[in-house]
Amino acid sequence: MVCGYFFFAKRYGHRAVVLESVAGVPGMVAGMWNHLRSLRKMQQDERGWIKTLLEEAENERMHLMIFIEIAKPNFIKRTLILFAQFIFWHFYFVLYVFFPKVAHRMVGYFEEQAVISYTEYFDQIDRGNTPNIEAPLIAKVYYGLPEMRA
Ligand SMILES: [Fe+2]
Repeated sequence: MVCGYFFFAKRYGHRAVVLESVAGVPGMVAGMWNHLRSLRKMQQDERGWIKTLLEEAENERMHLMIFIEIAKPNFIKRTLILFAQFIFWHFYFVLYVFFPKVAHRMVGYFEEQAVISYTEYFDQIDRGNTPNIEAPLIAKVYYGLPEMRA
């Protein structure tokens, strides 16, 4: 997150790529851990958390796929993201196993940062500082958007 801010602070598309690549990790870690716990304890996932968490991971992954189309990160940025994911996945796994409430709160903080970033992004578009490009096809399909802009 901090790394992303300093490298891509004014380039919102690239910042979104960093945010979304990190945001896709917690749901997968937590979903996997709850899945494994269900297997170990031989108990049903009564509250349906496994499905919810994995769907959240998939949703965040799709956000990343959309912003990859917009920002088109180069090899160096992709390598940085790969490294950040490697570090964050291990960190978040340990955090979730031993301090799940803190881990969930951290995701809340990330989501708050995403809202702030996207609000700033839209402000930049509204002020004309960032071009208002047409949504990529992958976004139109995922969100069921109309083919033509209004
Ligand atoms: Fe997202």
